Amino acid sequence: MSNSTIDAMFARRSVRAYTGEKVDDATIDLLAKTALAAPSGNNSQPVHVIVVQNKALIEEAERAIIAYFVKKGETAVVERIESRNNKIFYDAPVSFFLAVRNNAHTDTGIAAENVSIAATALGLGSIILGLPNVIFNDPETASYWKGKLGFPEGFEFGLAVAVGRAADTGKPHDIDPQKISYIR
Ligand SMILES: Cc1cc2nc3c(=O)[nH]c(=O)nc-3n(C[C@H](O)[C@H](O)[C@H](O)COP(=O)(O)O)c2cc1C
Repeated sequence: MSNSTIDAMFARRSVRAYTGEKVDDATIDLLAKTALAAPSGNNSQPVHVIVVQNKALIEEAERAIIAYFVKKGETAVVERIESRNNKIFYDAPVSFFLAVRNNAHTDTGIAAENVSIAATALGLGSIILGLPNVIFNDPETASYWKGKLGFPEGFEFGLAVAVGRAADTGKPHDIDPQKISYIR
């Protein structure tokens, strides 16, 4: 059976290297809307999408995220980030920050996956990012970063999704059919 939506689900993978190519405004707008099209508990639609294309801002956030883990003495995380050239957003030309209210993190995950699948369907690479969470939750930096990104009042960081043209050639992770059980 062939179906383009299902093909995109199986083709999606986390992309950690991007070309310098920009994503055009119409595509960015469409991807942002896919987050808003996601289902949500009680149709509460708790997600607000903040589209960031400002490289300097992303780099400042990367430095702040690394500084957080250094401050906490989380050496393993710091080393993993170092092994990725100290990149959190991997030089993607656009990142969608999904701010969320009412602690509706399940809904944020669904919205993030919508963006990621839609990006794949359009031939783009993407990666869902949870690590930026730390700078929005650390009381020392939260209000600065919420202000800097224009979070609406009462919203928290949920996830980010970085999107761009993939510069690497990975493959989707293997799936394990043993993780499906059937009751008939
Ligand atoms: C909620 C969530 C948060 C994630 N956060 C990060 C992150 O901060 N940095 C990163 O490099 N990858 C992040 N990932 C990507 C996972 O590492 C990746 O999905 C996993 O290794 C499986 O690889 P695949 O996406 O290529 O199938 C995140 C994925 C999810 C679903």
